[in-house]
Amino acid sequence: MEATIRELLDLVVRWVHIIAGIMWIGNSLLFNWLDRNLYPAETPDEHSFGKIWLLHSGAFYEVEKKLLPPGMRYPDKVHWFMFQNLTTWLSGVALLVIVYYMGGAAYMVDPNIAAISHATAVAVGVGSLVGAWLLYEALWRSPLRRNPPLAFAISLALLLAMSIGLTQVLSGRAAYIHIGALLGTLMTGNVWFVIMPSQRELVAATRAGRAQDPAFSIRAKERSLHNNYITFPVLFIMISNHFPSTYGHQLNWLLLAVLMVGSAAVRHFMNIRFHYRGWLRGAAAVSLLTLAVVAVLTARTSTNAGASVPPVAFADAQAIISQRCVACHSAAPTDKQFPVAPGGVILETPEQIQRFAGRIKERAVITRTMPFGNQTGMTEAERALLGAWIDQGADIGR
Ligand code: HEC
Repeated sequence: MEATIRELLDLVVRWVHIIAGIMWIGNSLLFNWLDRNLYPAETPDEHSFGKIWLLHSGAFYEVEKKLLPPGMRYPDKVHWFMFQNLTTWLSGVALLVIVYYMGGAAYMVDPNIAAISHATAVAVGVGSLVGAWLLYEALWRSPLRRNPPLAFAISLALLLAMSIGLTQVLSGRAAYIHIGALLGTLMTGNVWFVIMPSQRELVAATRAGRAQDPAFSIRAKERSLHNNYITFPVLFIMISNHFPSTYGHQLNWLLLAVLMVGSAAVRHFMNIRFHYRGWLRGAAAVSLLTLAVVAVLTARTSTNAGASVPPVAFADAQAIISQRCVACHSAAPTDKQFPVAPGGVILETPEQIQRFAGRIKERAVITRTMPFGNQTGMTEAERALLGAWIDQGADIGR
């Protein structure tokens, strides 16, 4: 497909994805908050879970959470909030296809990690999503779910194994985005195959004037708790593309694990904040700890290679950039996949190269996340030379 059409599709679908995602996660956080802030109604009623008054957009909202007493007429209109999740998931899958699967090998494959074909990489990606969902369902429908700590530990171990596996096969960014898509798929499966059936059973029971089968709601509660904890990790993964020092790191799976566990722990402190007074300290402590571990892992051993090698002439540095970068980073890229210079970065004139020296070092020398998917076959010697030229002051001889 024409690359410009692909970019336009990317733009529209990404926009939809973000709007739907904000609505879905926003609602989910709001309902979680409501549940934790209800107070008993003045006139005690066995069907009421509690009430709350809210002030928003110029008026008061009086909200009560309750079950409907048998015999009471079912309301004409009840809002379910299920399509925000579906829209988020569908647009997410569409983005995965548009950007990663139709975007060619550059997105999915990094020859320095594994020299597999684009088709193999796509098969691995799709297989990981389907496989993870089947495994998760099998685990949480098995007798093991009666021992939540054990089932939880197994889930975490499987997720870690999946992250390690994917980062050994796919490019760093593709591995990250697949873990995100995988978690989003589990959440969506939870909504549609566990939580919705429970709501349907509740409606059927209410209409029939009988009590709800508790098995449904217990399972729904369990899965919505999972979704609650998965939210923050997924949101990090969705923005991880902007942080090459995470997905481009040699231990990218470990960084991902640390960030996932850390952010889920922050969510935990937010969950308990209404009955645990030390929650803010707890959340701050795990945040700091997580960031400290990330900082240590991504810390650079002094990369000032420039001092120890003979001066590098600008002409040599520019020759490398012309050969390895300009196919994409030019006013008129020759690379078919990128008809416009990615990130607006053009590396044709000496001044442009000098201006971007810092980012060039970051992407091509330290994180090695450029050239994109190493499409242009940059060598280690070239990276070292480029790094030395930058360390020596990125002098363009003017
Ligand atoms: C095959 C196309 C391609 C080639 C070749 C390529 N890039 Fe990129 N570059 C991209 C894409 C796509 C992005 C935007 C996505 C991203 O930032 O990961 C990008 C973004 C960038 C950015 C801006 C983002 C940032 O982190 O500041 C810099 C700088 C960069 N590339 C440097 C380089 C250098 C240096 C080379 C050569 C060693 C190079 N690129 C080769 C495709 C390419």
